[in-house]
Amino acid sequence: MHESRARDILQDAELQTRHPAWCPEHRKTHAGSGARIAWQIVLTATLSEQMPTQADNLNPRHHIAEMLVNRTESLSVAPPVAFQVFMLTQGPNYTCEALVDLVRLDPNLTAQILRVCNSVIFRGQGVSSLQEAVLRIGNGALAEMAMSLTLGKLLAVRRTAYCPEPNALWKHSVQCALACRYLGKYCEGILWTPDVAFTAGLLHDIGKMVINSAPPEDTARILALMEETGRTMADAELEAIGADHAEIGGLILERWRLPEEIARAVRFHHAPEFDRSGLATLVHVGDECAKIAPGPEAWDDFASALSPFALQHLRLSLPRVKACWDEVMTDVDAIDRFMWS
Ligand SMILES: [Fe+2]
Ligand SMILES: [Fe+2]
Repeated sequence: MHESRARDILQDAELQTRHPAWCPEHRKTHAGSGARIAWQIVLTATLSEQMPTQADNLNPRHHIAEMLVNRTESLSVAPPVAFQVFMLTQGPNYTCEALVDLVRLDPNLTAQILRVCNSVIFRGQGVSSLQEAVLRIGNGALAEMAMSLTLGKLLAVRRTAYCPEPNALWKHSVQCALACRYLGKYCEGILWTPDVAFTAGLLHDIGKMVINSAPPEDTARILALMEETGRTMADAELEAIGADHAEIGGLILERWRLPEEIARAVRFHHAPEFDRSGLATLVHVGDECAKIAPGPEAWDDFASALSPFALQHLRLSLPRVKACWDEVMTDVDAIDRFMWS
């Protein structure tokens, strides 16, 4: 389908769903009392029953996402070690020895891991081999480190107006991943493993790499829309190029054949009411935590950006999230000092 034709169809078909229910633009559009009641009914129905179906893969937004991903060669295959490490952690043959054997295949990664293990993060423990590293930090931490460092190369995007800081996307992704892992411990009745929560958080904005390589006039339009209308980045992307980074990211992970629950969590991290498993909601909360800028308004901004049902869905309270984020920040500060100083 031609891109401009797809955009026309998108505009016709998606006027009703362009803004997530908590988005200020959505509220402006549906400010009348009748509309408000109607949207409460829609939202209630969404939370209880509505799940995206096969038809979602046929919508114009999905076609545009496919066209954009097809143009980005660096994403055609998953970073091999990161992908294999994750799959190993999920399989029956997951042992320390198997993890070490896998990571050892990449000498650069091995060197980076040893460097991190000998850094301030681990108080310079004098680690000289991967086996020692596993003994000191545990295989879970080693797997997370291997995935983060491998993806760091991929997420170190070129500097553009859309991504003005080359390492900012990686830094934000690691912070979100840690938030998901820590917050996941406090979510009641949730079935995902810490590895799955961490990986979903780490990959949640991978679609931004595709948009970052779009023509400058497209990214300029996205930024102008955000500036002029106060739209969120995802809404501005949808308006400007016909697909947002969440849709694009979900598609990339499907192509990498990551577990469906992770692809869905990434696809719906800005519209978590569409993912009943709750993993998208966890990523949504972790993402908003990772956007917190220090200052007196920080938690007010967090609460207003959050989907209204998110904490309820995960059975988390705001004080619990704050306490958890303090825990995350201890790790983040240490990583910041080493990685980005
Ligand atoms: Fe995002
Ligand atoms: Fe994000």
